[in-house]
Amino acid sequence: PAATAREALARLVRDVPDFPEPGVLFKDITPLLADHAGLRAVVDGLAAAGRDAEGRPVVDAVVGLEARGFVLAAPVALALGVGFVPVRKAGKLPGETHEVAYALEYGEAVLQVHRDAVAPGARVLVVDDVLATGGTLAAARALVEACGAHVHAASLLMEISALPGRAALGDLPLHVLTTV
Ligand code: PRP
Repeated sequence: PAATAREALARLVRDVPDFPEPGVLFKDITPLLADHAGLRAVVDGLAAAGRDAEGRPVVDAVVGLEARGFVLAAPVALALGVGFVPVRKAGKLPGETHEVAYALEYGEAVLQVHRDAVAPGARVLVVDDVLATGGTLAAARALVEACGAHVHAASLLMEISALPGRAALGDLPLHVLTTV
C-alpha cells in the first residue's frame, strides 16, 4: 500500500516551475486528486499515521490545513471514524478563535482555529499536502496546543528535502508518504 501511494505521487503530482512566483517549484496535486485510485491510495497512506500497530484508530480528530489539506483531511477523518476540524487563514472562521502568525516559503499569513473545535486532552492527527519550511505545520501545532489538545502526528503527502521543515518541528512525529 505504501508503495502504491508513492507510485501515485510520483506519477500524478506535477512540478510547476516559478509558480506562484519566480524561484518556487510548485507541486500541483490536482492530477492526483482527480485520479480515484491515486486519491484512495494517498488517503489510506495518510490515515495510517492515526492507527496503532493493529490498525485501530488512536486519534480523536483530524485537523486539515487550508486549502489543499482540507481535501485530504476530510476523507482521512472518515477513514479513521472521527470528525474533521479546519485550520483556516485569517478572517474565515465566524466563532472565537486562537490564531498564530507564520512565515511561508512565499509570503506571510495568519492561521486560526475555532477555540471550541478541539476538545482539551484530545489526540489530533494533522493532515496537509506539503512540508516545505514547516511554518504552516508549526503554526497548526501551536493552535492545537492552544486548545489544550495534543498532536499525535502530522501526516503529509510530500516532504521537500531541500528545505528545513523537519528541523523546524522539533519532536513532532512526522509521517510522510514521499520525499522529493
Ligand atoms: C502550502 C502547502 C502547505 C504549506 C507548506 O500551502 O499546502 O500548507 O504551503 O509550506 P511551509 O511548510 O513552508 O509552511 P499554501 O499556503 O500555498 O496554501 P493553499 O493550500 O491554500 O494553496
